[in-house]
Amino acid sequence: MEKFNIAIDGPAGAGKSTIARLVAGALGFVYVDTGAMYRAVTWRILEEGLREDQTEEMISLTRQSNIRLAPGSNGQAVYVDGQDVTGMIRSAEVTGNVSRVSAISEIRDVLTRKQKEMAAGKGIVMDGRDIGSQVLPDAEVKVFLTASVRIRAERRLKEISDSQPEVTLDQLMTDIARRDRMDEQREASPLVRAPDAVLIDTSGLTIDEVVHRILELAGSRV
Ligand code: C5P
Repeated sequence: MEKFNIAIDGPAGAGKSTIARLVAGALGFVYVDTGAMYRAVTWRILEEGLREDQTEEMISLTRQSNIRLAPGSNGQAVYVDGQDVTGMIRSAEVTGNVSRVSAISEIRDVLTRKQKEMAAGKGIVMDGRDIGSQVLPDAEVKVFLTASVRIRAERRLKEISDSQPEVTLDQLMTDIARRDRMDEQREASPLVRAPDAVLIDTSGLTIDEVVHRILELAGSRV
């Protein structure tokens, strides 16, 4: 089959990574989770103990760090300078700091360049916030997934109820709304639907229905 690229954007918890992984599996394409790359950089910055005002140090640390994604047993494994950080990048501390780090345009430039390289050979399903608008503006298929804040928080609660039983629905709704605000309002590549991206509201749809819809779009692309 001829290869092409699929860009999937949307706010936190819209189901992007689950859906992107399934779409990639169905097509035999490679899945790239760009949120994991921003999380990996954030983890590295926190690990280094940099303060919020040390922007220059954050940028040079990002330039020096080797971030690698590889297929893992449970989705995508993430390595920073050879160290497996797959679990650590999902911590509350990284989640609480990632939007601030990803608002720094020089850091976005480093990761955007890497993401473009990864997609150059085609056959990629990439998810994030700015894939259809900035990273892969020529992607053959572009989708923008969304869902209400409550539905997104309920989904996240289900995902983490075993590992973090202390977290409440209210906390998740506040956290998701705050990240939406930061991602939408930042100056550098804000979360925005590309004009040619197909909008899919996943609130009332099952995962399979969304995957099916995207595969239909992929099948009918021109
Ligand atoms: O997708 P995930 O929720 O793991 O992304 C974590 C954060 O990384 C987002 O809230 C956003 O701040 C940032 N991000 C971004 N651009 C992307 C992907 C993620 O700014 N392409």
